[in-house]
Amino acid sequence: MNSALEFVKTGIRGLDTILNGGIPQGWIVVVSGGPGAGKSTLALEFIYRGALEYQEPGLIVTFNDTKSQIFKTFKGFGWDFEHLEKEGIIGILDYSTSSLVFLEKVVRTGKFTLDFITAQIMREIEEINAKRAIIDPLNTLSLLFPNDFQIRREIHRLFGLLSSANCTTMCTLELKRPEMGTNEFLVEEFVAQGLVRLYYLERSMARFRWMEVVKMRGVKQESKIYPFEIDGEGILIKTESEGSDVEEGGEEKTV
Ligand SMILES: Nc1ncnc2c1ncn2[C@@H]1O[C@H](COP(=O)(O)OP(=O)(O)OP(=O)(O)O)[C@@H](O)[C@H]1O
Ligand SMILES: [Mg+2]
Repeated sequence: MNSALEFVKTGIRGLDTILNGGIPQGWIVVVSGGPGAGKSTLALEFIYRGALEYQEPGLIVTFNDTKSQIFKTFKGFGWDFEHLEKEGIIGILDYSTSSLVFLEKVVRTGKFTLDFITAQIMREIEEINAKRAIIDPLNTLSLLFPNDFQIRREIHRLFGLLSSANCTTMCTLELKRPEMGTNEFLVEEFVAQGLVRLYYLERSMARFRWMEVVKMRGVKQESKIYPFEIDGEGILIKTESEGSDVEEGGEEKTV
């Protein structure tokens, strides 16, 4: 364990074990995967467990699901975000309907920066004293920029501000080709301190879920890919003996 770092427990079943204690405080972790992989569920559970089990206020920045969709969908797990918001324990910035209008405006005026959204995020973090945040999905912001250089510059700035506020953050990232063992990564995955990839892949006419911690700066990681499930209570990572070692060439081997 790196004694120079403080760790934030996610509270998600199995995740703190495979992370060797949690996420270093203030780190930005990208959670990437294909549709239905469990990105939003994982990120929202990070906020929910933080609020409930660790009394840490959290901010949800949403670009896809509306606030009321989040309230309804995740009540299925018993997570009452509506109540937590009313109590002021969590904050929600809902850009689901306005984000495209905002993006169009940026394109029209030619001011290609994230300043406006970044300022709102940082203000809200300060207001509720958020120790955790999620941005779901980060792709909406990257869409603004025509090349990797600009994406890197703006995302790096946003991540830097979140880190300096000591706000541990999960950013979901949509992947079009979420293959296991791929060596192709997006610029957002490089800029973040942590990268968790979720896979929801077809094997013998059914789909199964796996999770891989590709990197977590400053923390030793096992090079395993773990199976996980989404059950009635949220994410459940199977840490015991069911992990898979990745052999050279990206082939997967169950151990
Ligand atoms: N109670 C439950 N038990 C089992 N599985 C569930 C339950 N509730 C939701 N799920 C599954 O979890 C999946 C939700 O994944 P989630 O919305 O987190 O994916 P995502 O990676 O954010 O996808 P997208 O890119 O489309 O936003 C659903 O497709 C559903 O199959
Ligand atoms: Mg989602």
